[in-house]
Amino acid sequence: MVNDLFLRACKRLPVDRTPVWIMRQAGRYLPEYRAVREKADFITMCHTPELAAMVTTQPVEIIDVDAAIIFSDILVIPEAMGMKFEMLENRGPVFHRPLRNGNDADALRIIDPEKDLKFVLDAVSLTKKTLRGRVPLIGFSGSPWTLLTYMVEGKGSKNFSHIKKFIYNNPSLAHKVLGKLADATADYLSAKIEAGVDAVQIFDTWGGILTQNDFEEFSLYYITKVISQIKRTDEPVIVFSKGVHYKLEALANSGADVIGLDWTMELGEVKKIIGNQVALQGNMDPTMLYAGKNKIREEVKRILVSFGEGNGHIFNLGHGILPDVDPENAKALVQFVKEESKIVHGKVDKKY
Ligand code: CP3
Repeated sequence: MVNDLFLRACKRLPVDRTPVWIMRQAGRYLPEYRAVREKADFITMCHTPELAAMVTTQPVEIIDVDAAIIFSDILVIPEAMGMKFEMLENRGPVFHRPLRNGNDADALRIIDPEKDLKFVLDAVSLTKKTLRGRVPLIGFSGSPWTLLTYMVEGKGSKNFSHIKKFIYNNPSLAHKVLGKLADATADYLSAKIEAGVDAVQIFDTWGGILTQNDFEEFSLYYITKVISQIKRTDEPVIVFSKGVHYKLEALANSGADVIGLDWTMELGEVKKIIGNQVALQGNMDPTMLYAGKNKIREEVKRILVSFGEGNGHIFNLGHGILPDVDPENAKALVQFVKEESKIVHGKVDKKY
């Protein structure tokens, strides 16, 4: 690997600068992504290894990040289990037949990733070839809880009424489906590792809509189960649970090597609590990329100083990059992290 800074930081090994990548870096803010997307709809892009590989490498070449993340979607698992979805322009994913009862749950198929998700595995092998070891490749999945939320809601939601009704009125059915999703997710991530990804990230986007108690029962329990079932040698596992600052110690005990933080948390404080156990990833507010370059550089410095000396920080946003961000600002962010973190890591003779 020419640049293994990201993997070294995941393992809390010394680095001479902080590695940086951006959640949702292969996306609509890049004109080069939109050019591919004009010719193919989103789901076709997910299903076509050549197109997925092409957009996966774009941010490595255009904004110079230290890791690539395979272009795909968390919803390919429910899709493979038999729940077709559509991606509506400006509205996001929609399942026309959401999961609401025992019959729907029984209809879910057990998946064989080598067969049912072969297009993702092919995209991984192809991307590894295109990357030629320049940077590591990250594979990902949703957490069982976040997948179940989409499957039951059927689309984005404000109050999450359907999924809350589901877990409060039929907890045993919810657990049954979550168990199935955990097995499918672990098999899928294992297959991605086998196909060549160097690390995996579990996106628990909707962990934060639950009470603390329910988070343990419906989300964390299944994240821990997935991690324990992944077949890996030394590929790091990153868990990004949004909005769960009250459960950091529990998350650090999930078996994850890296915990992703949203922008409401303070890296330095979190490091004191779990920093000798796991690496930390994050956590600039994605909307900070609407600011001018000076403001972005100041915020990068602030975050790097908050983490301070020591190993185990991967710079990222606190959630995905927004589609209307100027790509020049994304480029600048990456550059600023590279420059400023050399100072923090003591490689350049300039003090704050
Ligand atoms: O990070 C990357 O660049 C890899 C690609 C990636 C996508 N989706 C591509 C995508 C990843 C890691 C995801 C994960 C994903 N998908 C999550 C978890 C991460 C998060 O942001 O919380 C979720 C919740 C989904 C489901 C999903 N897919 C939603 C809610 C949407 C609509 C969002 C929107 O902004 O419109 C998508 C669509 C999607 N997934 C796009 C991309 C590039 C945009 C679709 C397009 O090109 O039209």
